[in-house]
Amino acid sequence: MNILFCFPRVQAEPWVAELRKNLPDARIEVWQAAAVDPLMADYGVVWAPPQAFIDEQSRAPGSRMKALFNLGAGVDALMQLDLPAHLPVVRLQDAGMGPQMVEYVLHAVARHVRELDVYEAALKSGDWPFRKPRARADFPVGVLGLGVLGSQVAQALHGLGYPVNGWSQSPKQMAGVQCFHGAAGLDDFLAATRILVCLLPLTPQTENVLNASSLGRLQAGAYVINVARGGHVVDADLIALLDSGHLAGAMLDVFRTEPLPSEHPFWRHPKITLTPHISARTLRSESLAQIAGKIQALERGDALDGVVNRSRGY
Ligand code: NAP
Ligand code: GLV
Repeated sequence: MNILFCFPRVQAEPWVAELRKNLPDARIEVWQAAAVDPLMADYGVVWAPPQAFIDEQSRAPGSRMKALFNLGAGVDALMQLDLPAHLPVVRLQDAGMGPQMVEYVLHAVARHVRELDVYEAALKSGDWPFRKPRARADFPVGVLGLGVLGSQVAQALHGLGYPVNGWSQSPKQMAGVQCFHGAAGLDDFLAATRILVCLLPLTPQTENVLNASSLGRLQAGAYVINVARGGHVVDADLIALLDSGHLAGAMLDVFRTEPLPSEHPFWRHPKITLTPHISARTLRSESLAQIAGKIQALERGDALDGVVNRSRGY
C-alpha cells in the first residue's frame, strides 16, 4: 500500500515517521511537486494540498487513489479544489480536538461572563475593583453547529449551568440543550442567545451566516465567539454592531485571510480578542492514529465514519 503525505506548511518528517509507526507495512513518502517518476498512492494524507497533487494522484495515468484523508475537521479548503466526484474525502473526527475546543470556548465564555478582562485591565492600572457577580442564567449560550465539536461544547456549557441553545441542519435532541434546526429555526435560536459560539463547517449555505441581520437578532449586549472559519462572519457587520453597542465583544480565532493582514481593523478593535487559529489544533499522534485506523478499515472493506458528503460540503 502506498501513502503520500502532503501538508506543505509543516516539517513532514515527524508526521511521516508517526504514520509509519501506525502502518509499518505501507510505503509512505512526502509528495514532491513535479516529480519525474512520482509514487502513485492508494491514500493521500493531506492538509490544503495544491491542485497539482489531486491531478497527478487521481487523474494522471497510473493513478490509484482510493481516498483522501484531511488532516483537520473542516474540509472547506479541499472543497475549493477540483476533486474527482468518485474520490472519498475523509475528515478528522475529534482526534483530540474536542477537549481543546471545549477548553477554548469555556475560557472565552468565562472570561466574558466573569469580566476577567475588566478585572485584568483595572488591576494593571492599580485599581482593586468590586463588581456585582453575574448569573450564568442571564447568559444563554447558543452553539451554531451541533456536530462532533459543537455537541461537546454544548454539553460542557450545560454541565456548568449555562442555559444552552443549539442549531443544526437536521433536527436533534440533546439533554439540556434547546435544539433548533434549519433556516426556519435560526431566528428563534438567535433571539434566545446572548453568547454565540460558531462551530459550523464553512459551506456555500453557511458562508456569511454571521451578518448584520443575524447578529442583530441576538440579545442586546451579546458576545460572539467564532472558532469555525472566518468566512462565516461579515467582518464589517460585526464591527458595526460592536461599535453601535449591540454587541458587547467578540473572541475570534479564525479569519477570512490568515495570518490576519496587519491593516485589518480587528487587530486594534478594543472589543475584539484575537487568537491565531489555535482553538483546536491537529494533534499529530491522535490524528494519524485515527487515519491509520480508517485506512485499515477501508482495506478490510469496512464502512467508515467521517466521509464527507460532497453535495452538503461537510
Ligand atoms: P461536524 O461534526 O460536521 O458538525 C457540523 C455541524 O454543523 C452539524 O451539527 C451540522 O448539522 C451543522 N450544520 C452544517 N451546515 C449547516 C447549516 N446549513 N445549517 C445548520 N447547521 C448546519 O463538524 P465538527 O467536527 O464539529 O467541526 C465543525 C467546524 O469547526 C469544522 O468544519 C471547522 O471549520 C471548525 N474547526 C475549527 C478549528 C479551529 O482550530 N478553529 C478546529 C477544528 C474545527 P447536522 O448535524 O444536522 O448535519
Ligand atoms: C481546523 O481548523 C480544522 O478544521 O481542523
